[in-house]
Amino acid sequence: MKSRVGSQGSLEEGKDTVNKVVINQYKPLSLRLLQFLLLFLGLAIVFSFVSMYMVRYSVVQNVIPMVQSRFQPCFQQLSLERWIRPPSNLLHSMNDSQLFWRASIVPQIKQYPFNRTRKIAFMFLTRGPLPLAPLWERFFKGNEKLYSIYVHSLPSYNPDFPHSSIFLDRQIPSQVAEWGRMSMCDAERRLLANALLDISNEYFVLLSEACIPLHNFKAVYHYISKSRYSFMGAVDEPGPYGRGRYNPNMTPEVNITDWRKGSQWFEVNRKLAVDIVKDEKYHPKFEQFCRPACYVDEHYFPTMLTIESPGLLANRSLTWVDWSRGGAHPATFGKADINDQFFKRISDSPTCVYNNQPTSLCFLFARKFAPSALGPLLQHSTKYLGF
Ligand SMILES: *[C@@H]1O[C@H](CO)[C@@H](O)[C@H](O)[C@H]1NC(C)=O
Ligand SMILES: *[C@@H]1O[C@H](CO)[C@@H](O)[C@H](O)[C@H]1NC(C)=O
Ligand SMILES: *[C@@H]1O[C@H](CO)[C@@H](O)[C@H](O)[C@H]1NC(C)=O
Ligand SMILES: *[C@@H]1O[C@H](CO)[C@@H](O)[C@H](O)[C@H]1NC(C)=O
Repeated sequence: MKSRVGSQGSLEEGKDTVNKVVINQYKPLSLRLLQFLLLFLGLAIVFSFVSMYMVRYSVVQNVIPMVQSRFQPCFQQLSLERWIRPPSNLLHSMNDSQLFWRASIVPQIKQYPFNRTRKIAFMFLTRGPLPLAPLWERFFKGNEKLYSIYVHSLPSYNPDFPHSSIFLDRQIPSQVAEWGRMSMCDAERRLLANALLDISNEYFVLLSEACIPLHNFKAVYHYISKSRYSFMGAVDEPGPYGRGRYNPNMTPEVNITDWRKGSQWFEVNRKLAVDIVKDEKYHPKFEQFCRPACYVDEHYFPTMLTIESPGLLANRSLTWVDWSRGGAHPATFGKADINDQFFKRISDSPTCVYNNQPTSLCFLFARKFAPSALGPLLQHSTKYLGF
């Protein structure tokens, strides 16, 4: 009781002192204010007379455009520029429903009424740091007009890229993504949706922090932009790890004959990116009926796109990976693996089909590489990677 009264008392005291101070200051303050107001009024009257005089003698001709341009932001007219300028900042306050809705808006006229540069969006799905960033920086250098970068990392991760880094401020608002779960596909959709906000992005490549490019930028851009198909792995695999993961409850949206399996690491064009982001038909089915041991990130996009746009798919991935050691995870390569033999092995892979023709150039990217591989990769990048 005592302490409460005491504190109340001191509060009252505090109020009194504040009041006194205010009262003491009031008189001179209000006088000064009045003087100031009168002065201002006088100036305003003088100014309006002067400006009327100037308008009458049209001296003002030069002044009006100046005033207009200074206040332009207030009366800015809609211009095409507003719709084609990429967002200046990747941070935004949209949640996924709002973002996906916005990203799924598509122009209905095929021809763009301006010179559109078709960029590749490189989307890095990571846990935290990007240890191979220096190699990617070298890969991108000099091609600034033809790519954009997006990074999705754990929300708890605080990136610290140097000021000169191309990865600086390329983080998108992220959420936790778990392997084999729908949250992983949602993270990929989030990357696509953010990248779709830039109308210049035409191709969308998903990468991880353990990926490297196998060729220089020019070769990668040419290969992707000249392809008639998008590189989404999609195979109809019999057996327990393929069709065996299908759940009959997915009908009628998904039939067993539609069921596909493919690597998570894809390249899709803008149309397929929108298909993925706008999907409300298949998402609930996969979320409900494809749970471990059905790894949804291996089935959702390949199956959905096979139903929706089979004619646009190359049905293979551009990302080389080594499963030969067996087990649940592919092999990781470190410092000791970066040698002639290793890169010969990658380029000696079986032939594949590119624009309906057989080719031996099947992969543009490779995984998985440990941070220790960075040194030798940088040292021999000209020899092994062509940049
Ligand atoms: C996003 O916000 C809207 C409006 O507040 C809400 O209706 C919607 O459910 C939210 N979506 C998600 C995925 O949180
Ligand atoms: C677009 O680029 C072409 C060639 O690069 C040029 O001839 C044309 O005038 C440009 N069009 C516009 C609208 O800028
Ligand atoms: C699945 O597809 C096959 C062939 O397209 C068809 O005969 C069958 O009726 C379909 N099943 C369902 C449940 O839709
Ligand atoms: C990919 O597979 C689909 C059917 O799943 C097929 O329609 C399409 O032609 C295939 N793409 C290529 C390039 O062969």
